[in-house]
Amino acid sequence: MSTQPWGGRFGEEPDPLVDRFLRSLQVDYRLFREDIQGSRAYARALVAAGVLTRDEGIAIDRGLQSIGDELEAGQALPEGSEDIHMAIEARLIERIGPVGGKLHTGRSRNDQVAVDLRLYVRRAALELGGGLTELEQALRTRAAEHLDVVMPGYTHTQRAQPVLLAHHLLAYVEMLRRDRGRLADAARRADESPLGAGALAGSGVAIDRDSLARDLGFSRPTANSLDAVSDRDFALELLAALSILMIHLSRLNGEIVLWTTAEFGFAELPDALASGSSMMPNKKNPCAAELVRAKTGRVTGDLVALLMVMKGLPLAYNRDLQEDKEAVFDGVDTTLAALVVTTRLVKGIRLNPARMRAAALDGYTLATEAADYLTRRGMPFREAHRLVGRAVAFAIKEGRPLEGLTIQEWQTFSPLFQADLFESLTLEAALNARAVVGGTAPARVKEALARG
Ligand code: ARG
Repeated sequence: MSTQPWGGRFGEEPDPLVDRFLRSLQVDYRLFREDIQGSRAYARALVAAGVLTRDEGIAIDRGLQSIGDELEAGQALPEGSEDIHMAIEARLIERIGPVGGKLHTGRSRNDQVAVDLRLYVRRAALELGGGLTELEQALRTRAAEHLDVVMPGYTHTQRAQPVLLAHHLLAYVEMLRRDRGRLADAARRADESPLGAGALAGSGVAIDRDSLARDLGFSRPTANSLDAVSDRDFALELLAALSILMIHLSRLNGEIVLWTTAEFGFAELPDALASGSSMMPNKKNPCAAELVRAKTGRVTGDLVALLMVMKGLPLAYNRDLQEDKEAVFDGVDTTLAALVVTTRLVKGIRLNPARMRAAALDGYTLATEAADYLTRRGMPFREAHRLVGRAVAFAIKEGRPLEGLTIQEWQTFSPLFQADLFESLTLEAALNARAVVGGTAPARVKEALARG
């Protein structure tokens, strides 16, 4: 007979190589808090169901609590176990004797690991939400500090129309707000307790799953035992939310890389947030921003890895599911680190308003204003566009800005141009003209900031 906890029907010990391959303790060790929390609640449910005496319940609870304290203090678990669940159970029996073996009555590792992971996902979503708040706050603070700074807005990475720097920064705040919503959705989907589903068919012990769920802080028990032990869509949803969040961080950090080039010169990183070259003494590189950008690939990889684990799995539990944890932990760790680093960069980056304003004035970004001027005097926009395009070509040839053309020159393109044209051809006029909801007019941007 095998010495494994499940070894009764086995005539041999496991092959050491295969045994090593099956082990997950190195990875799922991180679920020890959730595992102990789940087991303590389960022991209470067993007492309530009359399976454990009060004294047995107390012994198990104390045992679990002190194992939790040991692990919290960094003490290692005995090596021999397959996973965190078996390791804690083995330690419990070692501590309190055979009565520890009663804890698993009516329970399976299948519902046990499912409840652990749901507890972890809910906790992680909260922590990630905190990281998001910090970044949003940092962006808002920078926006408020620079409410009067104008920069060129871009399409196709070509200067397009002037916008407020604050408007640009608040665009990221909007993305992060939606990320927060997606995180909250993932947490909501994880908010059901699988404990009591047993191995697959439902526990044979008449535990009160409603109170057990509430005891663990879940809103309700899962409705179907097969689904409870075998789906991980709540984890997929978390990873999907994190992937999208990381895509947003990659865009923001990509702009930090762009803005700190000599070519843009919109910003400079303080030395403490930049990095050097081993060969070129002149270099100051935005490595942290680049790495956040790159780690987006990792998190998306985690999502795809778990999607592929789930694909085509027949009901109910399959050992494939053990592979879920690495992806989830890596996705959460990477995203948390990316949030913290991005927040540092946003707080510390030195912006160059003069350079932004000069760039906004330099790229014929007021051309739309001239066309809009003509439409206010009745000209169809398509005609105005063509005509101002010709004026832009003329100004480029002359090497002068649009607002540097004389009114006589403008009138060679259309007699509708009058001296008041020049009131429209300023950065401030262009901004103020964009006062629609969601536009870059200073009044709108102030409202957006105030909305909080
Ligand atoms: N370690 C496994 C996992 O993470 C749980 C164990 C389930 N094993 C089993 N033979 N039913 O999914």
